[in-house]
Amino acid sequence: MRTILVTGGAGFIGSNFIHYWMDAYPEDRVLNVDLLTYAGNLENLKSVSEDLRYTFIRADITDFEVMKRAMQGVDFVVNFAAESHNDRAVLDPGVFVRTNVLGTQILLEAARQAGVKRFHHISTCEVFGDLALDEDRAFKEDDAYVPRTPYNASKAGANHEVMAYFHTYGMPVTISHCSNNYGPYQFPEKLIPLFTTNALEDKPLPLFKSSANRREWIHVDDHSRAIDMILQKGTVGEAYNIGTGVEKSIEDITDIILDALQKPESLKTYVPDRLGHDRRYLLDTSKIRSKLGWKPEKGFEEGIRETIRWYVDHREWWERVKSGAYQEYYKTYYYDKIGKQ
Ligand code: NAD
Ligand code: DAU
Repeated sequence: MRTILVTGGAGFIGSNFIHYWMDAYPEDRVLNVDLLTYAGNLENLKSVSEDLRYTFIRADITDFEVMKRAMQGVDFVVNFAAESHNDRAVLDPGVFVRTNVLGTQILLEAARQAGVKRFHHISTCEVFGDLALDEDRAFKEDDAYVPRTPYNASKAGANHEVMAYFHTYGMPVTISHCSNNYGPYQFPEKLIPLFTTNALEDKPLPLFKSSANRREWIHVDDHSRAIDMILQKGTVGEAYNIGTGVEKSIEDITDIILDALQKPESLKTYVPDRLGHDRRYLLDTSKIRSKLGWKPEKGFEEGIRETIRWYVDHREWWERVKSGAYQEYYKTYYYDKIGKQ
């Protein structure tokens, strides 16, 4: 039996990862440390909440004493906790530095003192800056970090902390840079869930003016499998890119959603551009494919169809999230098993 501590496990990717891990490794114990900011939602984990292998701790990753206590006896840490949305970072960059940079350093220190066997940090393709739409190049793991926005600068800062703990203290760390994820339980501030749920409500879909800008899309389950492989077979001190090579523009994604839901073009609404809007990211994933044998399994056409269907079928989930009512739910639902021991 191993104990894996997941931070940010009540968010989109973290909660999908916890479901993945508990299915894949029935012997393991999972600790989920999450502050439950606006983006954290325990409804994502309802089906495992009573499972004796699962413990939820409501805490801030910048709280060193609590993190140190939580890390006792932990084998692996996977750090998903972050402020993750570019639009919010434009409005309030400070909280991104606090959570993403300081939070990561505090987790590293707590993990170092507790003797954790592996600290895996979830990073992003965005640390490498952006590419021109017609550029014939993909980011490699050892490219320089050239962040352009407050969100991606904070993620680059976190990566530097992780590597500093490797070089200075010999901490067993790994990093992954993933491209844009889609799938169930994504907070409806991000492109796919926002546009899908708006379309279902017959509300306008706000496309930024540079609507030819592209992203590389990956299903969240393929991301979880890649993290698993890095934990089992990755080399400490190294980073791995995770992506599919499937690029779609904002226009493409909007058309796919409108078509799937049989909604009119007239819902498209062009709004002023995001400040610092990165044009495009594309990752070279030859390292994880050749060294660890990972490759994506979910085709984009199938994955996006299933994902849109999931939002159609889970209207109650996103209506509650969009209304803010889930905040009330937390007050009665969350508990801290460690605090009660
Ligand atoms: P999310 O916003 O859905 O979830 C973030 C979670 O972190 C939430 O549950 C939130 O409550 C928690 N959190 C925030 N601040 C915290 C704090 N101070 N202490 C404890 N918990 C805190 O984010 P996501 O989309 O699931 O992204 C997860 C990670 O993956 C992030 O590190 C993000 O940078 C990275 N990433 C995301 C994508 C993507 O497409 N979504 C792609 C590549 C990398
Ligand atoms: O690339 C990895 C990153 O992907 C992660 O590190 C981030 O955590 C994650 O949020 C995501 O960042 P993006 O900024 O690419 O995601 P977002 O869904 O916000 O935007 C995707 C594209 O859609 C981008 O070109 C902006 C555009 N967009 C987005 C929103 C929310 C719009 O045109 N209108 C919108 O309302």
